[in-house]
Amino acid sequence: MFPTDFLWGTATAAYQVEGAAAEDGRTPSIWDVFSRTPGKVTRGETGDVACDHYHRLEEDLDILAGLGVGAYRFSISWPRVQPGGSGPANPRGLAFYDRLVDGLLARDIAPVATLYHWDLPQELEEVGGWPHRDTAFRFAEYARLMGEALGDRVHTWITLNEPWCTAYLGYASGVHAPGRTDAAAALAAVHHLNLGHGLAVRALREAADPAARMSVTLNLHHVRGVSEADAEAVRRVDTLANLAFLGPMLDGAYPRSLFDDTAAVTDWAFVQDGDEAAACAPLDVLGVNYYNPVLVRRREGGAGRETADGPADGVASPWIACQDVEFVRQPGPYTEMGWNIDETGLTELLLRLRRDHPGLPTMITENGAAFPDPVEADGRVSDDDRIDYLRRHIRAVAEAMAGGADVRGYFLWSLMDNFEWAHGYAKRFGVVRVDRGTLERTWKDSAHWYRGVIAANGVEQG
Ligand code: FCB
Repeated sequence: MFPTDFLWGTATAAYQVEGAAAEDGRTPSIWDVFSRTPGKVTRGETGDVACDHYHRLEEDLDILAGLGVGAYRFSISWPRVQPGGSGPANPRGLAFYDRLVDGLLARDIAPVATLYHWDLPQELEEVGGWPHRDTAFRFAEYARLMGEALGDRVHTWITLNEPWCTAYLGYASGVHAPGRTDAAAALAAVHHLNLGHGLAVRALREAADPAARMSVTLNLHHVRGVSEADAEAVRRVDTLANLAFLGPMLDGAYPRSLFDDTAAVTDWAFVQDGDEAAACAPLDVLGVNYYNPVLVRRREGGAGRETADGPADGVASPWIACQDVEFVRQPGPYTEMGWNIDETGLTELLLRLRRDHPGLPTMITENGAAFPDPVEADGRVSDDDRIDYLRRHIRAVAEAMAGGADVRGYFLWSLMDNFEWAHGYAKRFGVVRVDRGTLERTWKDSAHWYRGVIAANGVEQG
């Protein structure tokens, strides 16, 4: 059903799984500080221990081998390998990723490394964070260090994970670290993330094996309007969520409409001559994270508001200059996150990318679902709802491929239950259960099922 070289994998991120927050020279990231700030994370939970993956690496590598994955997407903790975000690499931090990468290769699993999955060194936030231009250059320097350290062995490099979240949730709505609510700063962050991405790709191309593939992971929004009268609302959200990144990264230019739409917030003077070209570095594959589509309509008066969970009042909106856009609750069924399940958005999104960016292959770098996952008396977790979600979405990928989309892989989010950002450990996305008391790993039914998908190289026809 899928091409023989299709990459099946699972994904995790450093702060969500590693723990060992103060070991071997690691300094705090913005998530260490944010999660300690009262009221920011459910039950005040932190990533101090997380899944203790740092100490249970071999066990987790064996789980990956047991699943039969061809690739594993992990992220590197910047403050672990370059404490404070500047200066030389920290050998003790690098040693962990050496063991991880070598452990993957020994098991015939391709390492897919994300450089930035949201854990900015706190020191860099204190001098301005992503709204500050220098952060882009610090990021490229860190990319070079990692290229030098692991560039001979990493199969695919992903510069940023979901810069949409970093910029808009981190600096506009404040529901993610560092928790700022400053729309102009968020747009400056957008730009410096784009610039940092382009600079990092160039640094990696110089430092890493020329065969390594370069990528970035975007949480592209598949935006639909309630009716045709809502086309302007769709355009606005698409511009802010998608074209603000796709434009500079893939085409070397922001859409001018982005500047017009947000003119009341900023004049974009932080975009210097040559920046848009610098943000654009040829990529080998585009990473796409997909969970659900977005439904909008034109709103008369009032402000569009959304939290990490969806629309809510009394919270700053990540949707800058979208006061006349309403984010409409979509029909169910829903996952435990309150996100609706609709795989047709994934097919449509992949076909759109094929149309707009022909010649650029994609891979699904995240897709998955949180459900309550009760443990049964015999210890089993019969997560049929997750299996159904995954099956639908894998079929949706196949459908897009049948329509001509060049999709190279699928990474299930997530290998194991982990620290789900502002939700702490309350939301479980893993195909492997992690007991919060003992940290014991248990395969859910979905893990057994996914192993079968990988072995068969596809799912049964619908
Ligand atoms: C994505 C993040 C990932 C995980 C999933 C559920 O936005 O990249 O770390 O939290 O959502």
